[in-house]
Amino acid sequence: MLRALQSVRVASSRYPSSMRWMSAWAHVQQGPPDPILGVTEAFKADSNPKKMNLGVGAYRDDNGKPYVLRCVRKAEKVLNDLALDKEYLGITGLAGYTKLAAELAYGADSAPLKNGQASEPNLIVTSQSLSGTGALRIGGEFLNRFYKGAGGKTIYLPTPSWGNHGNIFRDAGLEVKQYRYYDKATKGLDFDGLVEDLKTIPAESIVLLHACAHNPTGVDPTQEQWKKISTVCKEKGHFVFFDMAYQGFASGDPTKDAFALRHFVEQGHRVMLAQSFAKNLGLYGERVGLFSIVTDSAEEAKRVDSQVKILVRPMYSNPPLSGPRIVKEVLGLEELRKEWEDEVRFMANRIISMRQQLRDHLVNTYKSTHNWDHITSQIGMFCFTGLKPEQVDRLRSEFSIYLTRDGRISIAGITSKNVQYLAEGIHTVTK
Ligand code: LMR
Repeated sequence: MLRALQSVRVASSRYPSSMRWMSAWAHVQQGPPDPILGVTEAFKADSNPKKMNLGVGAYRDDNGKPYVLRCVRKAEKVLNDLALDKEYLGITGLAGYTKLAAELAYGADSAPLKNGQASEPNLIVTSQSLSGTGALRIGGEFLNRFYKGAGGKTIYLPTPSWGNHGNIFRDAGLEVKQYRYYDKATKGLDFDGLVEDLKTIPAESIVLLHACAHNPTGVDPTQEQWKKISTVCKEKGHFVFFDMAYQGFASGDPTKDAFALRHFVEQGHRVMLAQSFAKNLGLYGERVGLFSIVTDSAEEAKRVDSQVKILVRPMYSNPPLSGPRIVKEVLGLEELRKEWEDEVRFMANRIISMRQQLRDHLVNTYKSTHNWDHITSQIGMFCFTGLKPEQVDRLRSEFSIYLTRDGRISIAGITSKNVQYLAEGIHTVTK
């Protein structure tokens, strides 16, 4: 049988007969396309001029074009004029960048960072990462290697969570389980279910929380609810890993969006954090992020830092140079930082306006009888529409509108020119 298969296979080989032998990869099976990035591939192959890509979470301007922030362009010019060298960075990255990035997340006056300013060593260990995904992976590997809590090496994710979370943590060797988060009936937060699950799972479990602009649902706890979640996690001794990929994108204000993280740290949680500058500085392909851990003491920080280095070195040696240099200029130069704050607010507001227009067209132009209030009550880059997979498929085949099959749309991909077309499509498939 194997021989028969082999002869079929080699018959179609492009190699001359003298070079034909059994391929080492003959057993490798075709895998499915990525549920998010695969949508972009299908979109690119579509020739309909009205096509819309609402799959991947990437900001577009009101002409549907990728947007490079003005502050980023200016920082690049500054850097170009400096004609810097291209030497290797240290294993944990560009020091000026990691400091500014940590301050942006935790707040410059955060107690574990403030120690640094008061001539005491900083208690937050940082490592520049390959964007948020890379930070999550470093965290997953670190937990697998060193976490000794009674809950074991299981990480609890919200239901649902970003499609890549499970794969990242499983590949890092952790077991992945879930806690309740989204309520399909209300298209809002299942707060009671969430709290009950956090109370029921074993003490000292690892819990992943989306710091703001929950992906894919766009549903965040209120500040009061965050406080309660912090209390429950503290009572149960859970270890919290925050994923903050959208700081600034939820409300337009990076400080407000960091509320949950900062509150937990103030309450004494020694958290882990994955940060990304893909969305809020539009540095998608630069792969610039930060992994950090809040430690107990300077002595502990030193030990943890040494192990992060040991973990990173065999994975990718040291991180890339261009992205962190840009972030360092933008966050470090007052004028550019101000410009960035304006731009991030502008992007968030464009998204909020698109939500409003989409809901208005569904309700007023097409007189849809469904309740679409969640389009405007959810926040951040995504709306979890409630569309079923069959309806998503119809949007694709009848309208060339592309989104993930869980019904998530990236609001950032909508423009004032095509928002009505989208509403028409959604109305048609939900009538
Ligand atoms: C998304 O959810 O669309 C983004 O986080 C991009 C990605 O890598 O999936």
